[in-house]
Amino acid sequence: MSPPATMNALVLTPSTKSVALKTVPTPNPGPSEVLVKVHAIALNPIDTIYVQLPIAESDRVIGTDFAGVVAAVGEGVKDRKVGDRVAGFQQGACSSNERPGAFADYVLSDSDLLWSVPNSMSLRDAAAVSMCGLTAAQGLFYRLGLPLPANFPTPSIKPASPAPVPTENPVVLVYAGSTSLGMYTLQLARRALPKAKIIAVASPKHAEFLASPPYGADHVVDYRDTAWPEAVRALAPEGVTYAMDCISEGETAVGVNSTLADNGRMAIFRSPQGGGFPADLRIPPIYGAVWEGLGHDFGYGGPVIPADPTARAFAVAFDEYLSQHPLEPNPVRLLPGGLERVTAEGFALLGGIMVAQRGEAVVDGVKLKPLSGEKAVFELVPDK
Ligand SMILES: NC(=O)c1ccc[n+]([C@@H]2O[C@H](COP(=O)([O-])OP(=O)(O)OC[C@H]3O[C@@H](n4cnc5c(N)ncnc54)[C@H](OP(=O)(O)O)[C@@H]3O)[C@@H](O)[C@H]2O)c1
Repeated sequence: MSPPATMNALVLTPSTKSVALKTVPTPNPGPSEVLVKVHAIALNPIDTIYVQLPIAESDRVIGTDFAGVVAAVGEGVKDRKVGDRVAGFQQGACSSNERPGAFADYVLSDSDLLWSVPNSMSLRDAAAVSMCGLTAAQGLFYRLGLPLPANFPTPSIKPASPAPVPTENPVVLVYAGSTSLGMYTLQLARRALPKAKIIAVASPKHAEFLASPPYGADHVVDYRDTAWPEAVRALAPEGVTYAMDCISEGETAVGVNSTLADNGRMAIFRSPQGGGFPADLRIPPIYGAVWEGLGHDFGYGGPVIPADPTARAFAVAFDEYLSQHPLEPNPVRLLPGGLERVTAEGFALLGGIMVAQRGEAVVDGVKLKPLSGEKAVFELVPDK
């Protein structure tokens, strides 16, 4: 059955910073693109940040993570066919290209920037993987220069960072191990360095979970103890080799930086300006945005960043890797309703601009349990 001429979508009006459910034309796939019928969407902090600090100037469909079924293919597409189960992400509401986001009945994607969801995985679980999974992979392999995991399909792709750090006993630090980003970081770091010492910083309530496969943290240090940097330094007396600050807000970057070995490296996921921490840390952190992987010019709270073919090639390789060696999806919290509930329960749970400062979420007088070691997901087409 062909896709309908119109669809429901969550559309941002930047001038009023408001999002409304609207009926808009269903897009048509161009050459090398596919149209995906969206079955599930997952929420990310950036989905609300783009609404509160809009980058787009014209109305735009919002939303990042999706999973669904291919509904139509564009000219020249050979690697996907109608009916394929796939997942991916888009940069909803960006400035420098008009591409729509994922919070809609249908979404466009380049055919090679999707991964194949195995039949054993639900689409609601798959929706939780793509954006944070690639962010973790970019941080570890592309920016910090960890060796790629076994079976990465195109090992000839050169990571953007310099040569690997010379060390026989690398120590990996994953600050905020219970974030979506942190959990995928732990999985990938353990795959890449099966014998490395891996330290996570997270609430003790997540310790057993994060120490178990597929995460495999050797130690979990409590982030609410203000002396956590000292605790990490005691576990890694020669310093941390590779650090991922999966919050990158306020004091987190300063604390993580203080644990690094002199030849250590650290990846951050918010800029010093966006995350509110000093830019002149002892070891300069490496910052990047996952949107690079989409291969288009993009805006991200600063000047427009030009399309980067190397970052796109890495994303394509990572999607191939996910298709063959999927990550274990992070625990999912399925929220009731569909697109019409995203700005109510969904955005209330995501809170404001800073993850570390999320307040209590109350909707229609009902207090919502905060997101804790889980991904908020809405199903647009319920799993059978
Ligand atoms: N640059 C990029 O391309 C990119 C891509 C993806 C994400 N990000 C950024 O990465 C960050 C994480 O995003 P996410 O979606 O993974 O977050 P998330 O899953 O929504 O984070 C929720 C978790 O954060 C933990 N947490 C809150 N404050 C903390 C603190 N001060 N220290 C340690 N843990 C803390 C909470 O722990 P409890 O369970 O103990 O409450 C909770 O489990 C965000 O800043 C996001 O904007 C950037």
